[in-house]
Amino acid sequence: MNGLQKAYTRSFQFCIKIAMKIVPIRIPERITGEGKLAELPQLIKDKGLKKPIIVTDSFLSQVAKAADPIKEGLTALGLEYALFDGAVPNPTIECIEEGLKVYIENGCDSIVALGGGSPMDCAKIIGARAIKPNKTVPKFKGYFKILKKLPPFFAIPTTAGTGSEATVAAVVSDEKTHTKYPVNDPSLVPNYAILDPALTIGLPKPMTSTTGLDALTHAVEAYVGLEGSKLTNKMAIDATKLIFANIKTAYDEGTNIVARENMQVASFYAGIAFTRAFVGYVHAIAHRLGAVYHIPHGLANAIILPYVLDYFGETAHKKLAELADAVGITGATVADKANAFIAAIRELNAYMDIPTVIEFNNRGTIVKLKAEDYDNIIPQALKESHPWYPVPKLITYAEMKEILVKLTPAQ
Ligand SMILES: NC(=O)c1ccc[n+]([C@@H]2O[C@H](COP(=O)([O-])OP(=O)(O)OC[C@H]3O[C@@H](n4cnc5c(N)ncnc54)[C@H](O)[C@@H]3O)[C@@H](O)[C@H]2O)c1
Ligand SMILES: [Fe+2]
Repeated sequence: MNGLQKAYTRSFQFCIKIAMKIVPIRIPERITGEGKLAELPQLIKDKGLKKPIIVTDSFLSQVAKAADPIKEGLTALGLEYALFDGAVPNPTIECIEEGLKVYIENGCDSIVALGGGSPMDCAKIIGARAIKPNKTVPKFKGYFKILKKLPPFFAIPTTAGTGSEATVAAVVSDEKTHTKYPVNDPSLVPNYAILDPALTIGLPKPMTSTTGLDALTHAVEAYVGLEGSKLTNKMAIDATKLIFANIKTAYDEGTNIVARENMQVASFYAGIAFTRAFVGYVHAIAHRLGAVYHIPHGLANAIILPYVLDYFGETAHKKLAELADAVGITGATVADKANAFIAAIRELNAYMDIPTVIEFNNRGTIVKLKAEDYDNIIPQALKESHPWYPVPKLITYAEMKEILVKLTPAQ
């Protein structure tokens, strides 16, 4: 990146920082606690709504039966509902259109999104399509392409990671073009977020660790970036503290309801932070690896995060040292503290069996990052990052390649 491009990128980011102070982004009303899901049907009735669509995935609906209390509660109150349990991981345009059909055919008036980031994001774009029926999903790509109120939206996360229950974002996969992109619009922030930790009790260990590291990545990328505000810095620090204090317990003792609730709150806080202060290169690379190798989003972030922080070097030391202070990590100098914080992330990863390079088991097949795919990863990751992501250090193709080399396992 030459001097002119850098100047343009930083000026653009400065304007966005000012704009973010003006654009109203609501914070969803949060209802937190074990058993709080049971309050949802009455809340829907109190709002004068008659027929929500419940958007979830087939595992949660048919195996975990997580939607049953909502369905039963609505029926007991004399309300109708429609169920769409076809949300797929990394939701595709196809599944969004199927869900939209269910919404329209049943004359729904509101949306209940139950699941991890995938059902929540699928539900958000079903809502966007419902109010903008003439605009196709790819037309929503980018920023501020909806700008119209969605139907009343209740988000119920069953993982503790994406923060989608608090964000302006929905990430969509386009199977035709093999791309995965975010749609960002203030109207996508849910009206309510119900954080019931009982829903995450059954989350398997690898999902607990990787979704938790996704939340940590949101907090850290938002905090080290240049567009933090008083609100986002507080949210990022509080999320980081909660994650460091609870993730190992949630991982070791899945039924520990306090640790599970704290992880859900952390994910919500990190969502508030990054939706205003943005993410950075970790997410940009992870999105591309998700599109090319189908590596789960949280796993990719967890592996990439320490390498990108290393690469930022001095430009991120002060902020990382502040995060170290927040979680009680000590060091003689600012640089020592920053490096100790990065080492603590590596230690968390190792404790939870997260690999140090991009290599994972995809339904029985070992998938690895390969050097011949760099050209398919770096240009799009840079395109996603520039000029939007306010990273502390702007990097070039060659520099991102150096990071990918470190992430590539021996073949
Ligand atoms: N909108 C945003 O702000 C935002 C932010 C980050 C990531 N994302 C997106 O979110 C998606 C990833 O979401 P995710 O990591 O939450 O996973 P997910 O929603 O894709 O779910 C992954 C798997 O976990 C299962 N699962 C969910 N909850 C469970 C539970 N309680 N117990 C057992 N199994 C459970 C699901 O059935 C599914 O098979 C990606 O598409 C990512 O790009 C969105
Ligand atoms: Fe993420």
